[in-house]
Amino acid sequence: MKNKYGVAVVGISLEGIGNRHITSVIQNVNTEPIMICEVNEEWAKNRSEHYGVPYCTDYHDLLDREDIDIAIICTPDNLHADMIADFLAAGKHVLCEKPLALTLEDCQKILDAEKKSDSKLMVGQICRKTPAFVKAKQIVDEGVIGEITYIESEYAHNYSVMPIHWRNSYEVPRHPFTGGACHSVDLLRWFCGDPTEVFAYGNHKLLGPKYGPCDDTMCSLMKFPNDVVGRVFVSIGCMSPGTGIRTLIYGTKGTIVMANNDRHITLYLGSFGFEKSDKILGGQLYKNGIQIPVSLNSHNTAAELADFIDILQNDKDVDVNAREGANTVAVCVAAIESSKTGMPVKVKYCE
Ligand SMILES: NC(=O)c1ccc[n+]([C@@H]2O[C@H](COP(=O)([O-])OP(=O)(O)OC[C@H]3O[C@@H](n4cnc5c(N)ncnc54)[C@H](O)[C@@H]3O)[C@@H](O)[C@H]2O)c1
Repeated sequence: MKNKYGVAVVGISLEGIGNRHITSVIQNVNTEPIMICEVNEEWAKNRSEHYGVPYCTDYHDLLDREDIDIAIICTPDNLHADMIADFLAAGKHVLCEKPLALTLEDCQKILDAEKKSDSKLMVGQICRKTPAFVKAKQIVDEGVIGEITYIESEYAHNYSVMPIHWRNSYEVPRHPFTGGACHSVDLLRWFCGDPTEVFAYGNHKLLGPKYGPCDDTMCSLMKFPNDVVGRVFVSIGCMSPGTGIRTLIYGTKGTIVMANNDRHITLYLGSFGFEKSDKILGGQLYKNGIQIPVSLNSHNTAAELADFIDILQNDKDVDVNAREGANTVAVCVAAIESSKTGMPVKVKYCE
């Protein structure tokens, strides 16, 4: 069993997610930061000095290096597929940021590359490591809220406070349903499996033309196995109440309400109100749910890396593998198609 894995982080702007990943690599006892790769040389130098890790500007220079076991890919979404394929072909393990890709063609390319390779690929669907959602999954798996009947999740952000860059491109449009709501879609899939059909409406009323051509708001209904209904909402220009990924699950015996940036999840058992334990507040029946404390860690890249290392060291199957990443993208692609055609769309999953 290998004790130290050499790691390269590819794509590290001054404030982007690559910074969280390199920090996790530096802190993990089983990983050693070998190189950062950033195409913008000024940023590459800056980050290299900041972390004390050498840099390069072309990821191809990393492919033949024997001291690199793992590549963590944090570049814009449309670049993931080629990079993953190249690193896997070079025998490197890959941890790639979400979304796996923006198109089904790119997802298929990645699935094919993964099949051909002996290396492992994990997709950074970070909500599966977020303490609130991990706790909710445990509660659901223990049967506490019975069978899920309905589930909803939202990705509510305001990209107008972010710099104008690849997220706003006209050349490679990045629809926020794939770019942002993939977090919520992946959560719903984690709890309820793969939806068979989706329907969606979208509009573009919040962000001006400089923020790109895609709708800034969209809502999708989804039909899941086992007769479960789901809903995903995305906005990248809303006056967000401060909850990024607010999520709710109704089960036959209870309900869970949570968000990635709340310090507790709330569990309601039995019906809302109309029970002896309910309080009368301001003339209204009001029931406190059970508040279960959870730690605040909405971008738990440390847990993600630790899980990946455990998988590598013990030759386990990757849980959030290319298939998981690709199926999440397939649902997003179907929802975007529905919002354009105004018709329900059967989800087409990759082979
Ligand atoms: N898990 C999460 O919650 C989360 C949060 C933010 C971003 N992301 C994802 O992470 C990825 C990066 O997002 P970000 O916000 O850090 O973007 P960013 O723009 O801040 O950083 C991406 C960096 O990649 C660099 N880059 C582009 N092409 C490159 C190349 N060929 N070689 C090396 N570097 C290259 C860019 O110059 C840039 O500095 C995206 O896929 C995004 O969707 C995930």
